[in-house]
Amino acid sequence: MTETVTSPPPGSEDGGRPLREWLARNRRENPVRWDEATRSCQVFGYAETQHMLKDSQTFSSDFGRLVPAPQGEAATTAEGRPVPNLLEGHLSVTDPPRHSKLRKLVAQALTPRAVLALEGKITEITAGLLDAMAGRDEVDMVTGFFNPLPVTVIAELLGVPAADHAMFRGWADDLVAANHDASAVDAERLKLPENMNALLLQMQDYILDHAAQRRREPADDVLSRLVAAEVDGERLSESEVFTITLMMLLAGHISTTLLLGNSLVCLDENPQAAAALRKNPAAIPAALEEVLRYSPPAPLAYRLTTRDTTLGGVDIPADVMVASWVLSANHDERQFTDPDTFDITRSPNPHLSFGHGIHFCIGAPLGRMEARIALRMLLERCGELRFAEPPVPYTSPTVLGSKRMVLSRPVV
Ligand code: HEM
Repeated sequence: MTETVTSPPPGSEDGGRPLREWLARNRRENPVRWDEATRSCQVFGYAETQHMLKDSQTFSSDFGRLVPAPQGEAATTAEGRPVPNLLEGHLSVTDPPRHSKLRKLVAQALTPRAVLALEGKITEITAGLLDAMAGRDEVDMVTGFFNPLPVTVIAELLGVPAADHAMFRGWADDLVAANHDASAVDAERLKLPENMNALLLQMQDYILDHAAQRRREPADDVLSRLVAAEVDGERLSESEVFTITLMMLLAGHISTTLLLGNSLVCLDENPQAAAALRKNPAAIPAALEEVLRYSPPAPLAYRLTTRDTTLGGVDIPADVMVASWVLSANHDERQFTDPDTFDITRSPNPHLSFGHGIHFCIGAPLGRMEARIALRMLLERCGELRFAEPPVPYTSPTVLGSKRMVLSRPVV
């Protein structure tokens, strides 16, 4: 264990170029690096990342081991209400056997039929957002299109009444600011635990109220199916219903927003690809897979080792954090031909941007459908895509994409 990571990764400013170069250098030198100083491991290679994601017994997602449940005063608000425990029911941070059970319960609610049934609604929401841009000189595509689309879709999927959509979107914005945008004024406000707890309790009351209503009068929506789902005679607890709903809202919207924004950047940098897609919209699904490979919305995956192990020839002790760079794996020259070329005809395209193994994104069919519809309609309705100013990237290393993207006269 003599390898050290020579320097910390650059942020994703400047379109992520310095970060991509740093990753390429590390990947070529050593696909897996152990850093004795921080006692942590970074993974840069494709085969090694895939292995880590697949071996969930050695590489655990249960970060609850590191964060003890809040005790005493920290477990309740000033009014004496229990603070929601967001680890309970959180698929991404749960290991088998609990994970397998939870995932089956969620799959009963998020069925392929429920996702397919949303196609018309997604088209309608997209058309409305594009109509609202018509004739405007400058539009921030993130706040005007890429963010409201997936949040409204998740609200529809859960069965949140249309009258509450704006409130629901406000919560989603606050959660994204708190999780990924250290520079936002709102993030500062939400760093205060009492403010974050107040937001979570407000959401919890709202969602559990609706869940109770669906228990009494089931409807054809995901929330009704979540409260009714049963595996081995077991149903989800109240707090699990809340966490799963919150997780869908967060996981389901930020990644889709980023994917749409990253598509715009890729098409701006590759105008011949944009022209090809306008001519042949049937090529859009493959182009989106290439955007996912080239610029994965979630560029990093974290795991905790449960035992001493070896990855890519490097010894890793038990109980340490392993950070796998999906962004680097997707550009590994040992796996992809010309990995730094954006090629919308790339086939096969086994990128790892939806994960791999037991935690593979359960919302991938929905994310893909939303992005396909949005990109097709955007290319139909928009003339030339022209940025009025350079896109403003997120600086958090956990997300890759832009928080502001202003286009000049996108829809005339
Ligand atoms: C298109 C954009 C999306 C991308 C790039 C994406 C990416 C990912 C990735 C990489 C993971 C695996 C994380 C890990 O291994 O630790 C994941 C898991 C997950 N995603 Fe997505 N996601 C997207 C859309 C969605 C949508 C629309 C939903 C919800 C409706 C969703 C819900 C989830 C959930 C619940 C998990 C946890 C699955 C598990 O741990 O078993 N995602 N996603």
